[in-house]
Amino acid sequence: MAYTGLPPLDFRSDTRTVPDARMRAAMAAAEVGDDVYGDDPTVALLEARAAELLGAEAALLTPTATMANLLAPLAAAASPGPRAPRLVVGEDTHMAFLEADGLRRFAGVEPLPVAQRPDGLPDLDAVDALLAAGDGRPAVVCLENTSMLRAGNALDAAATRALADLAHRHGAHVHLDGARLANAAVALGVRPAELAAPADSVAFSVSKGLGAPVGALLCGTRAYVARARALRTALGGSLHQAGVVAAPALVALERLPDLAADHAAAAALAAGLAAVPGAELMRPPRPTNMVMARLAGLTPQECAGRLAVHGVRVLPLPNGFVRFAVHRAHDMIGVRAAVRALAAVAADAPAARATTGGDLPGRGLSTTWTEEA
Ligand SMILES: Cc1ncc(COP(=O)(O)O)c(C=O)c1O
Repeated sequence: MAYTGLPPLDFRSDTRTVPDARMRAAMAAAEVGDDVYGDDPTVALLEARAAELLGAEAALLTPTATMANLLAPLAAAASPGPRAPRLVVGEDTHMAFLEADGLRRFAGVEPLPVAQRPDGLPDLDAVDALLAAGDGRPAVVCLENTSMLRAGNALDAAATRALADLAHRHGAHVHLDGARLANAAVALGVRPAELAAPADSVAFSVSKGLGAPVGALLCGTRAYVARARALRTALGGSLHQAGVVAAPALVALERLPDLAADHAAAAALAAGLAAVPGAELMRPPRPTNMVMARLAGLTPQECAGRLAVHGVRVLPLPNGFVRFAVHRAHDMIGVRAAVRALAAVAADAPAARATTGGDLPGRGLSTTWTEEA
C-alpha cells in the first residue's frame, strides 16, 4: 500500500488525508508572489484551473470550504445593503449544522432550514413556500452535493436544476456547497461543471478526498468573485504567499479519477457491513465514498467507542448512524478489518441492548458532531 501517513483504520473523515510526496515536492518548488497584490502565479493558476473545472468565470482560493460558504451569501449582494439576505439551507447539511453559528455572527444571516428529500435535495415545495413568503430581502438558496447526512449521496444535474429553476423564479441566488462535488461528478460520470452549471456560486474543496492539505475554491462570475475577494480580505483571509498551498491543490485537481477507487472501496465496505447481523445501512441512491451504518441497541457514540477498541475509528452522527468516510488511505485490508470490527461489536451488542433499552438510536444532536465532519 502507498504510504499515506495515516493509520489505515481511521474512517472518521476524508479530511484526514495527508499530502503525499508529490504534493510536498510541489509545495517546496512552488513559485510564489503576494496574492494580495495579485502576483502569486501558482494561486492564479489554481484559480484559473478551478474556474475551468467548475465551468465558472472565476474562482477564489479560501482556506476552507467553511469560509467559502460564509462568503457565498455575503458576495451575493451586489452592494453592501442594510439587510442581510435570507439564507435557505437543507436542515441536514453542513451549513445548517456546523456553519450556522458563523453565518449568524459573521454574515449576519439567520439560516432558514428546510426539510430535505431522501436523496438530499431540499424539498422543493418547502423552498417555494419560504421564498414566496419573502420580506423583500434578497434570498440565497443553498444545496449540498454530495449530501453529507444522506450517506454522501450524489445529486445529478437535473435535481440541482429543478431547485435552481425554482429559486431563480423567485429571484434568489443559488449557492452549491460542493465540498465533495468531485465525488459526485466521478460517481455520476459527468464533469463537475455540469453539476455546477445551474448554480450561481460553488464552494469546492480540495482538502477532502482529493488530498490537498488546505483549501477550497469559491467560484462564480467575475463580478461575484471580485466581491468575494474583497470580503475575504475583510474577514482577515488575505493569503499572501499562498502559492505553497495552491501547489498541492493543483496536484489535487489532477486526481479526480482516483476517487473512483475510494468509491469502489466504499461499496465493498457497504456490502461487508450489510452482511453483519444486526447492522442497518443507509442506502443512498447514488453512493460515493461514505458508508453509514448503525447497530441495534447501540447509540452512535457507543458504536464508535466499541469500534475504537478494535482499532477502527468512525464518526458518530446526529442521525443515529456512524460514518465510515473512505479515502486514499484505505485499501481492501482496511475494509475487511473494518467489517470484522463491526461484526465483533455486533456480536456483543445484545449485552448493550440490555443496558440501553434495545431501541435503535433515533435522531438527536450528538455531542461529538463537531469540527470533524
Ligand atoms: C459538506 C461540507 N461542506 C463544508 C465543509 C467544510 O469544509 P472545511 O473543513 O474545508 O471548512 C465540510 C467539512 O467536512 C463538509 O462536509
